Amino acid sequence: SILIVDFGSQVTQLIARRVREAGVYSEVAPFNSAAEAFERMQPKGIILSGGPASVTLEHSPRAPQHLFEAGVPILGICYGQQLMSTQLGGNVVISGDGGEFGHAMLDVKAECALFDGLWEVGSRHQVWMSHGDKVDALPPGFTPVATSEGAPFAMVADEERRFYGVQFHPEVVHTPDGAKLIANFARHVCGLAGDWTMAEFRETKIAEIREQVGSGRVICGLSGGVDSAVAAVLIHEAIGDQLTCVFVDHGLMRSGEAEQVVSLFRGAYNIPLVHVNAEPLFMGGLAGVTDPEAKRKFIGKTFIEVFEDEAKKIGGADFLAQGTLYPDVIESVSFTGGPSVTIKSHHNVGGLPERMNMKLVEPLRELFKDEVRELGRELGLPEHFVGRHPFPGPGLAIRIPGEVTKERCDILRKADAIYLEEIRNAGLYDAIWQAFAVLLPVRSVGVMGDGRTYDSVLALRAVTSTDGMTAQAFEFPGGFLARVSTRIVNEVRGVNRVTYDYTSKPPGTIEWE
Ligand code: XMP
Repeated sequence: SILIVDFGSQVTQLIARRVREAGVYSEVAPFNSAAEAFERMQPKGIILSGGPASVTLEHSPRAPQHLFEAGVPILGICYGQQLMSTQLGGNVVISGDGGEFGHAMLDVKAECALFDGLWEVGSRHQVWMSHGDKVDALPPGFTPVATSEGAPFAMVADEERRFYGVQFHPEVVHTPDGAKLIANFARHVCGLAGDWTMAEFRETKIAEIREQVGSGRVICGLSGGVDSAVAAVLIHEAIGDQLTCVFVDHGLMRSGEAEQVVSLFRGAYNIPLVHVNAEPLFMGGLAGVTDPEAKRKFIGKTFIEVFEDEAKKIGGADFLAQGTLYPDVIESVSFTGGPSVTIKSHHNVGGLPERMNMKLVEPLRELFKDEVRELGRELGLPEHFVGRHPFPGPGLAIRIPGEVTKERCDILRKADAIYLEEIRNAGLYDAIWQAFAVLLPVRSVGVMGDGRTYDSVLALRAVTSTDGMTAQAFEFPGGFLARVSTRIVNEVRGVNRVTYDYTSKPPGTIEWE
């Protein structure tokens, strides 16, 4: 395994992800418990993360000195490189010009084990820099192997001790070959086989959950989505009926989804499940609400209240389980350095733990969406369930601009189901990140048979994306949208016109509200 020592970078988990992608198990430990983690894991390699501090300051975080004497290969990234330089007898200074941020070109100057099969001496490569300080004098044994305009020691190596330092960030996608550099470190330098799998993640997590929970009781709020379901199934596998699930059914799910969750949990997995039909409560509270943020706030708050009530009825739970993913954990990764503003407040089950005075069980905290799906498959969840497109916590409420009513939810559910059915039949479902219909608060005139109609307009949306942060409209093959449009207008009462949304993100967002 590889131990990743965290010095507080916002992208430390990305390092873990890259190592896992190389088929090598890794764990992240905060710098102040790195010694203990090293003892326990006996890792074959160590990666020192970046971080916001400056090693030039006396009280900035350090790595346990004995890690450098353990005979284990080390890769220091950004702050990690500066730290290694400082702790091994080099020197770091604050950049006079304020540092280097963003894209930079790296010139390869010498051979290095991390370049094997990848980079040749004399070649140039794009990398992502983000640092204020820089190494000014190398420790004994190190030589520069690559340089950039702003950093003569952009990459350094001590091949004898197998210590490497990079000033740039190989873990982010803006360094196109970064994942391969990390894979070279993990496999080639540390000699790890690269055969680690999700099956092992499952085993490790199950052991962790058992240790954390002991004989305590856990409750888990199901949203109907993939994340909370995977978390619940994993926890159930670990502790059996010490887990109780509460499914707050807000009536804002897609067609057939609520039933699917219930039959999956009660039927296939035999997991204790309390199904709360809270549709009337949610519809009542949404009456007259048209502002998108007000809808989100109401839904988030009500979800919590309903869940709390149920938890009280069940009583005696010591732990709250959540399907929190890594992207929910990163506060606001802003590579551009600009302030990040709230575009939409994403309400899920968040905010529960503080109010409920319970300890958290969050077995998916280190995972990204596609890894959660893989884990779900590993746990035997059906493909049509784990492969589902992302669906927002507030559900259909934010796909009905204007007032949300049960009647409008039902219209949207029908139209959405037709759209998704056609997409699945055309074999396009997996090529699309998210596809859905939006029921607009606009009516248009139409003609049906001999009669005049005056009904709602529906917008169809389908986007491709890798992480939901940016997105492009999906180009359907010719005839597809016409077919869907005809079916919807013929089969769904209340809709007489269908449009397609071509906006990319930015400047649009994926959802309409
Ligand atoms: P936007 O609309 O901001 O959406 O481009 C990006 C991704 O986030 C999902 N989304 C939400 N997910 N609670 C959620 O759990 C929310 O309130 C929420 N709003 C948007 C959206 O579906 C897309 O995948």
